Amino acid sequence: MIIINEKHYKTISKIVKDYAGIVLERIPQKRVEKKLIEQMKLLNCQSIDNYIELLENYKNNSFTIDNFVGEITISESYIFRNPRQFEYLINNYFPEFFSKNNFKFPLRIWSAGCSHGEEPYSLAMIAKDFQQNNPQAKFTINAGDINKNNLKTAKIGIYDSKSLHGKMESLSEILGFSIGEYDENGNCVISDDLKNKVDFHWLNLKNISSLKIMQGSDIIFCRNVLIYFDDVLKNKLIETFYKYLNPNGLLFLGESECFPMPDNKFETVDILGSYAYRKPENK
Ligand SMILES: C[S@@+](CC[C@H](N)C(=O)[O-])C[C@H]1O[C@@H](n2cnc3c(N)ncnc32)[C@H](O)[C@@H]1O
Repeated sequence: MIIINEKHYKTISKIVKDYAGIVLERIPQKRVEKKLIEQMKLLNCQSIDNYIELLENYKNNSFTIDNFVGEITISESYIFRNPRQFEYLINNYFPEFFSKNNFKFPLRIWSAGCSHGEEPYSLAMIAKDFQQNNPQAKFTINAGDINKNNLKTAKIGIYDSKSLHGKMESLSEILGFSIGEYDENGNCVISDDLKNKVDFHWLNLKNISSLKIMQGSDIIFCRNVLIYFDDVLKNKLIETFYKYLNPNGLLFLGESECFPMPDNKFETVDILGSYAYRKPENK
């Protein structure tokens, strides 16, 4: 029988926070323990101390901690989650952006904490729709997550009803175009031209210096991810997103997430009960 005592728990909590910024105490203890035991069995670990050593060794080999973090975090996502945010982009932001720069520059989007890809593919779908009427419009869409299994699923791009959340039909009506192609099992299959629009990367938001790849973004999505982090990391991330967004760029958080910094420099854009955060034009 595997016994996890308080000291073990504290050690694991510190390792996970140092590595990924994740506050273990935000995740139900039962879930953490269940996943710990499963991972130990998979690796044939004889003792919890032995497993902790593997977790600690992430600088040389991050395999164990990557799998553990992937298992304890909740990767729930679905296509067109918080549809008002997508409606705002297609109806307001995209037309304004391209009419201001006269189609000279691409619109650059980042989806940070993209889970299985539902979010960046939703963005690719609206980008494709916009390009049908505006063929000169160019987009780049980058997406990243710490969970390598999520990224594998994202690259395959086949989604069952859980990822669709039963919303595709009503969304087709709201957005005014038909979204998704389906296989014989009712799964939504992402077409190659949508897949080609998204570049997936392994990303650890705790490594602030690695976020320089987001420099020059016009839109950053980081929805339902900050919930795992403490206020210090949340605030650092918000400052970093601000720094790397272009003037007039937008940050999107999850609909039920509060903005962590009361004295932040973003302007709030109210989208019928949902929000976006805009970096002012002259900054
Ligand atoms: C609930 S999902 C959110 C997915 C999507 N953004 C959405 O709102 O539908 C949270 C994602 O954050 C990822 N995550 C957690 N910690 C992370 C970190 N330090 N760096 C990058 N991604 C992280 C998890 O792997 C998970 O896929």
